[in-house]
Amino acid sequence: MDLDVSDVRQQAATGLIPPEGEIMAALRGAYERALEHHEGQVADYIPALARADHEAFDLVVVDVEGNSYQQQGSGASFTIQSISKAFVYALVCERLGHERALELVGVNNTGLPFNSVIALELNHGHPMNPMVNAGALSTTSLVPGDNPTSQWEFILAGLSGFAGHQLTVDEEVFQSEMATNQRNMAIARLLQSYDRLDGDPDQVVEVYTRQCSVQVTAADLAVMGATLADGGVNPITKQRVVSAEVARDTLAVMAASGLYENSGLWLFDIGLPGKSGVAGGLVTVAPGKGGIGCYGPALDSAGNSVRGQIATAYLSRSLGLNIFASNPRPEGA
Ligand code: DON
Repeated sequence: MDLDVSDVRQQAATGLIPPEGEIMAALRGAYERALEHHEGQVADYIPALARADHEAFDLVVVDVEGNSYQQQGSGASFTIQSISKAFVYALVCERLGHERALELVGVNNTGLPFNSVIALELNHGHPMNPMVNAGALSTTSLVPGDNPTSQWEFILAGLSGFAGHQLTVDEEVFQSEMATNQRNMAIARLLQSYDRLDGDPDQVVEVYTRQCSVQVTAADLAVMGATLADGGVNPITKQRVVSAEVARDTLAVMAASGLYENSGLWLFDIGLPGKSGVAGGLVTVAPGKGGIGCYGPALDSAGNSVRGQIATAYLSRSLGLNIFASNPRPEGA
């Protein structure tokens, strides 16, 4: 996909996010650029998602001081879907630690679609990373708790801590996915056959599907991203949600696999950790600076928001967020 921002001047990544005036101007430019794009498809393999407005688009930036900057169309709520994978992974890493998370779930890109069964088979049942469904099911199975109810309570409290307020489930989307997610059931059983699932496959799929059905807005995603950008502390509530080490590890995994098989392309163009969801959400994190939340339900072939990617590419260049962009040190400095 051509992200259409090569005319936007690439600023180097320096210590702080630019001041309000520059952020607002960049947000306007990014929003207008994204609205020029009408390509992509709304996901319909979960029937309740098919009703989303193809043209909807919201864009929010929250910095690590807790300032919020918005270019909202509808301010709509939507289900978090796969974006939950990054935040549940962080919550599980907090309990498991760096080495154990690496061993049990992995950190390498599969190079294959998010719901691939072949990826598991090719890797002897190892899920490879927590951003694809196999790794996310394995991660959810590792959530602390004696039973699915207490595991679910742990997840909802943790996701709410990232967002800074109590989140709720879209029951209609949950039921719709539960009625049609035979593929995730198959992946969970395959994981079980390789002894890579900590629990009953049906129960793990149910908790995972519930976590995917949590409702958020683009503003929530920006706060959740800003929490990872701020060493695990929510910049609005000031609550420490995860440790700085876990925030760092989560961002590394998002950078490697957050946009599935398009993660290399995303990193090449945007240079930031990100995570997409099939309902159209996209969260991007500029470490030490802030989070970007987008909602645009029209997706590319890998399941990533088209408008979200374009707006984020624009912001990355114009605000100097790309972590790989530097200027040569001035002579004599
Ligand atoms: O498991 C699924 O298929 C969905 N609940 C989540 C997939 C998803 O969001 C993929 N992202 N782009």
